[in-house]
Amino acid sequence: MTFREDLERATEWVDAYMQRVGELPVSANVEPGETRARLPASPPEHGEPFDALLRDLDEVILPGLTHWNHPRFFAWFANTGSEPGILAELLIAALNVNNMTWLSSPAATELELVVMDWLAQLLGLPRDWHGHIEDTASTATVAALAAAREVRPRGVVYASEQANVSVEKAAYLVGLEFRKVEVDEAFRMRADFPLDDATAVVATVGTTGTTSVDPVPELARRCEEAGVWLHVDAAYAGPAWVCPELRWSLEGVDRADSVVVNPHKWLFTPMDCSTLWTRRPEALHEAFASTREYLPATQDAIDLRDFGPALGRRFRSLKLWFVLRSYGTEGLRALIREHVRLAQLFAMLVEAEPGWEVVAPHPFSTVCFRHLEADNDAIARAATATGELFVASSRLRGEAMIRLAIGNAQTTEQDIRRSWEVLRECAAVL
Ligand SMILES: Cc1ncc(COP(=O)(O)O)c(C=O)c1O
Repeated sequence: MTFREDLERATEWVDAYMQRVGELPVSANVEPGETRARLPASPPEHGEPFDALLRDLDEVILPGLTHWNHPRFFAWFANTGSEPGILAELLIAALNVNNMTWLSSPAATELELVVMDWLAQLLGLPRDWHGHIEDTASTATVAALAAAREVRPRGVVYASEQANVSVEKAAYLVGLEFRKVEVDEAFRMRADFPLDDATAVVATVGTTGTTSVDPVPELARRCEEAGVWLHVDAAYAGPAWVCPELRWSLEGVDRADSVVVNPHKWLFTPMDCSTLWTRRPEALHEAFASTREYLPATQDAIDLRDFGPALGRRFRSLKLWFVLRSYGTEGLRALIREHVRLAQLFAMLVEAEPGWEVVAPHPFSTVCFRHLEADNDAIARAATATGELFVASSRLRGEAMIRLAIGNAQTTEQDIRRSWEVLRECAAVL
């Protein structure tokens, strides 16, 4: 077989998968160790043909996968491996550039800067900030806190008790103490905690637990006065800012020191792609730039490896570029709006049903809800075991609840209505 023939097979496979993914069971139905037991213990001595690899992908791997690209995947934060993103990933692998310095691939660096400027415009962020792409929000937050530490070493990182676990981990990695701040009745971080010993505050727009929005304007004012770094974690909800009517949640972000938004969550870009902006690039540069003989800088050019932890950098801007161009602002807005509409619809269905309640405000595309009597962990497990949808349960103020997070470009109203039926049926059986 030639590369061209294998490529055609791979293309056919991807096309067929995209067409049938909605019919596959969303969640894997395997026991721990089951997939591993079906794989050879050692690598093959002789190279194998592509056909054999594809066959094992279908027979061994696929049954053990949870299909994140399924329109009824609603766990954690749902995402989309969109068509333009998939095509870009193929081209990225073919080009295989390492965008560590301008010299190592000039157009990759310059495209990244342009795409970050485009995205800043789309989201209503300041255009004069430095922006670059990291793999994940976890890494972007490490970068932001390392920069904050350059400004104020040895302090505390404050974030809401609803903040993502990656914030605590990032503080730990850069050697800063982490402290949780209480939330109000709407799960927003309280803004009245002392800042005397603070190095940084991380405010979240769209917390993982409930998608609550911390009071960024008030925190920005206090951080400015105290000389404390304010990092905004908008990993999930940032893409909502493409819609003017959702920009209320952008208020104050232009006064932060850094902000992270994940196109790989709710902006139809395949894993991984996390965008980080800062008004203070010199602090990031201070934290990460180092010279070596084998890494010459180029005059009048920017070396993006100087602004984050990694030296080797994938050509992620290509997929973001493809996604932004293929959907256009209009297409992105329409999808985000539809997801918000579907979440409102789902919340209405829950509220209208005796015995169920919505447990937190739902400003974006995620609804937290629960059955008042039945075991909500068991309902989520039973609904997921049907293979028709995937929801995860979590806990809010000590009580179990279920999260339904909409974020896949293929999700329709029919998917939402059917999922609600399945959840009700599962609760009735329990
Ligand atoms: C609000 C928030 N911040 C950060 C993260 C971590 O993102 P990543 O997986 O890109 O590190 C998540 C993940 O769900 C999140 O919900």
